[in-house]
Amino acid sequence: MSGLTPSLFGRDLLTLAAWTRDEIAGVLDLASAIKADPASYRSALAGRVGVLLFEKPSLRTRVSFEVGFARLGGHAIYLEHIHSLIGEREAIKDYAKNLERWSDVVIARVFEHRTLEELATYSSKPVVNALSDLTHPCQALADMLTLRERLGSLEEKKLAYIGDGNNVCHSLMLASSIMGVDLVVVTPPGYEPTPEMSRLSGERAGASGASLKITNELSALEGCDAVYTDAWVSMGQADEAGKRLEAFRDYQVNNALMASAGPDALFMHCLPAKRGVEVTDSVVDSARSVVYDQAENRMHAQNALLMNLLGESD
Ligand code: CP
Ligand code: NVA
Repeated sequence: MSGLTPSLFGRDLLTLAAWTRDEIAGVLDLASAIKADPASYRSALAGRVGVLLFEKPSLRTRVSFEVGFARLGGHAIYLEHIHSLIGEREAIKDYAKNLERWSDVVIARVFEHRTLEELATYSSKPVVNALSDLTHPCQALADMLTLRERLGSLEEKKLAYIGDGNNVCHSLMLASSIMGVDLVVVTPPGYEPTPEMSRLSGERAGASGASLKITNELSALEGCDAVYTDAWVSMGQADEAGKRLEAFRDYQVNNALMASAGPDALFMHCLPAKRGVEVTDSVVDSARSVVYDQAENRMHAQNALLMNLLGESD
């Protein structure tokens, strides 16, 4: 099938750190092609089955994968894991060794990133990260697709991420740095991205010519093409909610902050959003907001991802 990137066949997607600019661009190009002409891809995953293993709740990720499989002629099975961790009923290794006998790909949402690494170690079939404590690469693919659609290209565009240096931030840092997007990450003190993710992203920015700045200063938002934020309290962090809400108080995306970013800056959020907390209704519902484009593009980007990882149907 044309439009596939051969080096992606059979690969896992645990983080984007192992991916090249051409590989990400290949997925984005195919995603745009599927979006423009879905009828031509109705059988692209015919006979293929994916298993979704989710330890945490989901709206977008679960539905976009399930609908995506259906639209491409494949089938997805959702395995409830909200009430027990993968590896509790039986070893993670045994999940991998069983699932590979029936399915073509395992798509897992996990508390601990090492659960994905262990699944990938023992599975002969691709493993896709549907969100871990460390990264959320499928979200970043959709975000790059959305930015490219809205801005025409990614090179030399300036994106600002404000809020928690978390999983979504890490994937945005990797994707932006690899793709040549200039990124400013603005967090409260103590909530910066991890040193390892900062190092990896910095290396990739050096190679692509993009700039990556990590700061606590809100003034760094000025003159950007898009402002991105995420929840201040991620799934699994409810115990820290009080402390976090206090620490992030000055980092809300509201009309004043958007005005300081620039007159045409887009607003982005992976969702779910806590309206009135990290972002006001006035921003999330404004004409600058592309949050539902991001949500739609989850499906197109993941469809292109799956086609590349699974290769041509027999
Ligand atoms: N953005 C995102 O991953 O949403 P869900 O948690 O609803 O899947
Ligand atoms: N950082 C958020 C993202 C949700 C899509 C979380 O991990 O809960």
